[in-house]
Formats: sequence, structure tokens, C-alpha cells
Amino acid sequence: MTDTEKWEELENACKDCSKCSLCKTKTNTVFGVGNKNTKLMFIGEAPGESEDLSGIPFVGAAGKLFDKYLSAVGIDRSEVYIANILKCRPPKNRDPLPEEEEACIDFLRSQTKLISPRLIVCLGRVSARKIIKEDFKITKEHGIWFKRGTFDICAIYHPSALLRDTSKREDMLKDMMEIKKVYDRVLKN
Ligand code: URA
Repeated sequence: MTDTEKWEELENACKDCSKCSLCKTKTNTVFGVGNKNTKLMFIGEAPGESEDLSGIPFVGAAGKLFDKYLSAVGIDRSEVYIANILKCRPPKNRDPLPEEEEACIDFLRSQTKLISPRLIVCLGRVSARKIIKEDFKITKEHGIWFKRGTFDICAIYHPSALLRDTSKREDMLKDMMEIKKVYDRVLKN
């Protein structure tokens, strides 16, 4: 099977998924978007209302703010891949339930395997706790790189946290600048 066929199969399986109850309330699945040959992948939490309506991750207010950070450090959104832990929106944007994360995580595993990025950046606590470690403390550990097999992984604040608390924006910019440096190094090697 070619990679294109594998992607198609995966996306269709995601659309047809009924492994948890979120499939009953979603409008669209939000599979992921971006460059499938990238070295840098961002992983958020779950679709919000705008994402559920459009089928594209990070297009609402938080996504627009995230785009500003990407362009502030010179990363073009189209050169990275962006996905979420959950592919369907939790009602009223509540936190994902452990069983929803478990039901959905294989899609993300397959996406990561096909993309094979060098760097993974978790957006927010929920993503960091699922991907880096269960007790991840976002206020203390944002911006720190962890080695996981062939990946270097770090977590930064979720952009929606920056909408609520603007005092976190300075740290976010610093973390994004560091990510860009590490990414540039990866691209040179
Ligand atoms: N928040 C997320 O974690 N992901 C999205 O796609 C949108 C908002």
C-alpha cells in the first residue's frame, strides 16, 4: 500500500469511527492538517466549535492566536502538521474523558508513524499528559524537551490558556522561539 493509500484508509476509518460516543454529537471529524513530510508536528487537545464545523484543527480564536505565534517565529503553518488527541468535539468543550482518549489515540499513533516527524510539540496540559507523561505540569515544564524514542517532544501552553491569561504570552513566545531554533537545527541535519 502506498502512503497516499494508507492516509486515505486512515482518514476514512476516522470518519466512520464509532469507538466512543462523541461520534453521535460531532458535526465533522477533525482528522489533522498540514505537511505530511514535516519534521515538526503539533498536537492539540480536541476540536472546539469552529473546528467541529469546519473539520480543520485550530481555526477558531485559539487557532488564530496560535497562527500569530507561528508567524512571529517564522514558521509557516503549511510546513508543519497539526492534529489533536481527539478527532471529535467533546460537548461544550469539556475535557476529554480517559476512555475517549484511549478510543482515539491509535489514529494519532498512525498519523505520527506515517509522518515520522523529528519534533513533536504538545499544545497544552491534556496533550502533554497523554503524550509525554501522566503527571506533566504545564506551568513548570513547558518548553522542556523530552526524548521519546526517535522523537524530541516538548509541550507549550495551549493557545486558549493565553486567551484567558495574557501573562503567559511572554513564556509562550520564548518557547516558540526555542522551538524554531531546534527546528532549524533539525532541518540543517
Ligand atoms: N483546541 C484544540 O486543542 N484543538 C483544536 O483544534 C482547537 C482548539
